[in-house]
Amino acid sequence: MKNEENIVMNVTADNGFSDLVADKAVGLTKSNNGKTMMEAMVISQERIASDIYSMWIDAEVIAKRCKPGQFVSLYTSDKSHLLPRPISICEVKENAIRIVYRVSGSGTKEFSKYMANRYVRLMGPLGNGFPLANEKKTAMLIGGGIGIPPMLYLAKSLPGSIKIVAGYRDEMFLDDSLAAWGSVYVATEDGKHGIKGTVIDAIKAHQLTADVIYACGPKPMLKAVCDYSLTMGIEGYISLEERMACGIGACLACVCKTDKKDSYTNVNNTRICKDGPVFPIGEVIL
Ligand SMILES: Cc1cc2nc3c(=O)[nH]c(=O)nc-3n(C[C@H](O)[C@H](O)[C@H](O)COP(=O)(O)OP(=O)(O)OC[C@H]3O[C@@H](n4cnc5c(N)ncnc54)[C@H](O)[C@@H]3O)c2cc1C
Ligand code: FES
Repeated sequence: MKNEENIVMNVTADNGFSDLVADKAVGLTKSNNGKTMMEAMVISQERIASDIYSMWIDAEVIAKRCKPGQFVSLYTSDKSHLLPRPISICEVKENAIRIVYRVSGSGTKEFSKYMANRYVRLMGPLGNGFPLANEKKTAMLIGGGIGIPPMLYLAKSLPGSIKIVAGYRDEMFLDDSLAAWGSVYVATEDGKHGIKGTVIDAIKAHQLTADVIYACGPKPMLKAVCDYSLTMGIEGYISLEERMACGIGACLACVCKTDKKDSYTNVNNTRICKDGPVFPIGEVIL
């Protein structure tokens, strides 16, 4: 049996969703341990930049329960891909969630073709999410590439003053939406928009400071953010968007090294999908 099939069987048996994986009925919903597996209707979909798509999905149970930094796992209808694709929740409005994603392979390519009124199978909300400060702290939200979408939901949820540092390869997306919730500072690799360089270059160029840092993006960016935050003595949290398989803690495909022992394996590993994807800066070894 293929590895992917093995993982799916273990995961569904472990979490009581086995009947749903086999069931093709439209509109069904099943909740277990705070997660819901459902067939949800696509409300709208649009391309907002080259290869970047924004999709609103009618998923009331997930919308009512999720928090910034959590994600959903979307299933493709292609039988050769049994495992779902994790995508962060970018925004929530009443009964709907928004995801913003880059087409990077066959799964996201399939999602990009979905039109309004079709159904998509998804599970969520998954992961732990960002801890939200109750008091009004100055927060610096740092997003790189596909790590930018969860920062919009986070910016809308924080009570204090917000500085948003967004790093793009070249073309910008979500910058207008982010600007409604905080001051936005941009870095691009080619210097076409904002500072030429990395998010750290933008932070230094604008002499930005904050009480707390929240970051999501590629590993090299997160590593630089951790170094910066530890050097400056600023408390912070990073969200890892590593490759995943089951997305619910059952297959160990997403483990990374940490300074704490994992309750499941009793070694210094942590499952990004279940124990994360958000970790305090300094806890995981990047
Ligand atoms: C918690 C979490 C949240 C995420 N949120 C978002 C989001 O909001 N928007 C978004 O666009 N993407 C997000 N991703 C990444 C997204 O899951 C992958 O891009 C997607 O699974 C790729 O599936 P695919 O079938 O299109 O590509 P595949 O055929 O599986 O892979 C195509 C290419 O993409 C690369 N890739 C696959 N997974 C990842 C990954 N996790 N990170 C970086 N590169 C990857 C592969 O190495 C390969 O080069 C998130 C990932 C995680 C774990
Ligand atoms: S993806 Fe399976 S344990 Fe994390």
